[in-house]
Amino acid sequence: MASKADILVVTVPFAALPDTIKSLKSFIKPGQIVVNVTVPLETAVGGSATRTVGVWDGSAGEFASRFLPKGARLVSAFNNVSAELLNDISKQVDCDVLVCGDDADAKKVVLDLARAIPGVRGVDAGPLSNSRTIEQLTALLVSLNIRYGVKTAGLRITGLHSST
Ligand SMILES: NC(=O)c1ccc[n+]([C@@H]2O[C@H](COP(=O)([O-])OP(=O)(O)OC[C@H]3O[C@@H](n4cnc5c(N)ncnc54)[C@H](OP(=O)(O)O)[C@@H]3O)[C@@H](O)[C@H]2O)c1
Repeated sequence: MASKADILVVTVPFAALPDTIKSLKSFIKPGQIVVNVTVPLETAVGGSATRTVGVWDGSAGEFASRFLPKGARLVSAFNNVSAELLNDISKQVDCDVLVCGDDADAKKVVLDLARAIPGVRGVDAGPLSNSRTIEQLTALLVSLNIRYGVKTAGLRITGLHSST
C-alpha cells in the first residue's frame, strides 16, 4: 500500500517515529513524497506537550529525512494544525500551513494539498531546516490551547500579500 502512494503522511507520536520510518523504509520508492507532521514533544519521554525534546538532527523532519531511502522527498507540513480543526473540514480551517523542504517540486505538491483544505493558506516556509523552528511553535500552540481552554489554536502569518 505505502509503495503505491504518491504522498505518505507520517503523523505519529515522536516516540513512534523511528520505528515508523524503519517500517516504511523498504516500501518507499524514489521520488515518493513523505510528509512529516510529527513533532518532538516531551510527551515522548513522559513529559509535557508544552515542551519539546532536543533532536540530534535539529528536528523530527530532518531526523525522518536522514533515515529515508535515497530519492525519497521529505517535506514538513501540518505540524501546527490542530487535529480538532482537520477532523471537520466541512468547516473552514482558519490557519496557515507552513510547508518546508529541500525539494521544490515536492514542496509545491504539498502546498497544493494544504491549499485544497477550505480556509487554509499554504505558506512556503523555505528549506527543511526551518522545521526546527516550526516544530517548536507546536509546543507553544499546545500551551495556548491549555491557557485558553480550547483545542483549536493555530497560526496566521501576516504581511505576505498573497491570497493563498
Ligand atoms: N493532534 C494535533 O492537534 C497535532 C497538531 C500538530 C502536530 N501534531 C503532531 O502529530 C503527531 C500525531 O499526533 P496525534 O495527536 O494524532 O497523536 P496520536 O493520536 O497519539 O497518534 C496518532 C497515531 O499514531 C499511531 N501511533 C501511536 N502510537 C504508536 C506507536 N507506538 N507505534 C506506531 N504507531 C503509533 C496511531 O495510529 P493507529 O491508530 O493506526 O495505530 C495513532 O492513531 C504528533 O507527533 C503530534 O505532535 C499533532
